Amino acid sequence: MSTATIERVSSATAPLVEFRDVGMTYDDGTVALEHVDIEVRRGEFVTVVGPSGCGKSTLLRIAAGLEANTAGSCETRTDRVGFVFQDATLLPWRNVEKNVELLAELGGLPGAARAAAARSAIDLVGLAGFEKSMPRQLSGGMRMRASLARSLTLDPDLFLFDEPFGALDEITRQRLNDELLRLFDQRGFGGLFITHSVAEAVYLSTRVVVMSGRPGQIVDVVDVPFDTPRDPEIRFTSEFGALVGRVSHALKEAHT
Ligand SMILES: Nc1ncnc2c1ncn2[C@@H]1O[C@H](COP(=O)(O)OP(=O)(O)OP(=O)(O)O)[C@@H](O)[C@H]1O
Ligand SMILES: [Mg+2]
Repeated sequence: MSTATIERVSSATAPLVEFRDVGMTYDDGTVALEHVDIEVRRGEFVTVVGPSGCGKSTLLRIAAGLEANTAGSCETRTDRVGFVFQDATLLPWRNVEKNVELLAELGGLPGAARAAAARSAIDLVGLAGFEKSMPRQLSGGMRMRASLARSLTLDPDLFLFDEPFGALDEITRQRLNDELLRLFDQRGFGGLFITHSVAEAVYLSTRVVVMSGRPGQIVDVVDVPFDTPRDPEIRFTSEFGALVGRVSHALKEAHT
């Protein structure tokens, strides 16, 4: 049995996370993943799409070292890993500023450095002016921004996203997609992103990985050639439409 290993980035070109023939069978016998090969380097944004229950969240938990794969190997070559979940998971009794400071606080960063990191992250995600707001006073999109800011305080090398914008309306989702791309350009982290939206996958990614139903296996890998920063108008081009079509077909075939 091999486990996810966490170590410092050893070489600038080595993948930040590297799955090699990874399989995952849970204790109750559920086979969630089989023969999965994925790698994410700095400056790459890899999105995984696949039917519900095909093992996408399992994949992210293995990358984060929260779960141990039962076959193959997964190496995560950094200890600066950011994780954004589908739910914003803010503490309801803490205001935005105190929520954003949480991970830095748990990591033992001193008060002044923590406040500075939080302030800069809050600015980056466009929440300046809402530092003292409580989570219940925020919209869904603002809560996700706060959740994003909380992970940004760690200055992650590898950023893992588990359907972070799935519950948002289309316009808010598109706006957050653009903000995430801007952060990606600025910070140059490696991204591993899960979504059910094929258009979101193509718009955000340098590469889209399509998985079959459970047990999740990779059925197609689609490189996305658009430059960054991306013009929102590319969504209306025929090239974008063709990529969305290819991913959608691969998904549909994997489902039948
Ligand atoms: N701790 C666990 N013990 C047993 N089975 C599990 C456990 N966690 C997940 N599973 C099973 O593994 C499979 C993959 O689950 P996972 O949550 O990774 O899927 P997913 O692709 O993220 O689904 P969704 O798109 O609905 O979020 C499912 O069949 C699920 O029931
Ligand atoms: Mg999931």
